[in-house]
Amino acid sequence: MANFRQFRPDDLNKFSKCNLDPFTETYELGFYLQYHAKWPSLFQVAEDQHGNIIGYIMGKLESSPDYYKFSEHYLPWHAHITAVTVAPEARRLGIGKMLTEQLEAAADANDAWFVDLFVRSTNHKAIQFYKSMGYSIFRTVKDYYGDHSSDPTKSSRILRHAQAHEERRQEGARSGKWREVRGGPE
Ligand SMILES: CC(C)(COP(=O)(O)OP(=O)(O)OC[C@H]1O[C@@H](n2cnc3c(N)ncnc32)[C@H](O)[C@@H]1OP(=O)(O)O)[C@@H](O)C(=O)NCCC(=O)NCCS
Repeated sequence: MANFRQFRPDDLNKFSKCNLDPFTETYELGFYLQYHAKWPSLFQVAEDQHGNIIGYIMGKLESSPDYYKFSEHYLPWHAHITAVTVAPEARRLGIGKMLTEQLEAAADANDAWFVDLFVRSTNHKAIQFYKSMGYSIFRTVKDYYGDHSSDPTKSSRILRHAQAHEERRQEGARSGKWREVRGGPE
C-alpha cells in the first residue's frame, strides 16, 4: 500500500528505485529543490511501508511571456508535468494515475487552463498511460530531448494536453486563445 504526500528535500536520497529507469530523467539536485521551493503542491511522492520512494511527480505553473501573445506558440497559464515515474515493481497499481490526478487538482486550484507535458515518441507505455487519462497529442516537436537520433521519426517528441477545466475552456474558446492551444495536428 502506498502513502502519498508532498515531496521533502531528504527524499532525494531515496529516488534510486525510480531513477534507474531509462525513461526517467535524472537532474541536478538544485533542479528538484527549485521545483520544491516554487511549486510545492505540484511535487508529490508515493512511498512504500518502508519509506522508500516508489513514485513521484514534479510539475510547474507557467505561461508564455507577454510578447508571445500573438504568436501561434503562445501558451496561456497552465501546469506542466516535468517528470512522473513509478518504480518498476510498483507499476500498474494505479500509482502513476493517482500522482497525475493530484497534480491536476493542484493545477486546477491554481486556475491552470490545462496540463501539458513532453514524452518521447518511442515511450509507448507512457503514451498509453497518458491516453488512458484523457491526454491527447497536441504537437510533435523534433529533437526536444536533444539526443539526435539518426532516425528523424524517432527523435521527434510529442506534447500533450489534458482537458481543461470546462469554464476556463469556454472562456478560452470565446477569446480565441483556446483554439490556438488545441489546434495542433494529431
Ligand atoms: C508511465 C508510468 C508513470 C505509469 O505508471 P503506473 O503507476 O504503472 O500507471 P497506472 O498503474 O496508474 O496506470 C493507469 C493506466 O495507464 C495505462 N497504462 C499504464 N502502464 C501501461 C503500460 N505499460 N502499457 C499499457 N497501458 C498502460 C493503463 O490503462 C492503466 O490502467 P490499468 O492498469 O487499469 O489498465 C510508469 O510506467 C513509469 O514510471 N514509466 C517510466 C517513466 C516514464 O516513462 N515516465 C513518463 C515520462 S514522460
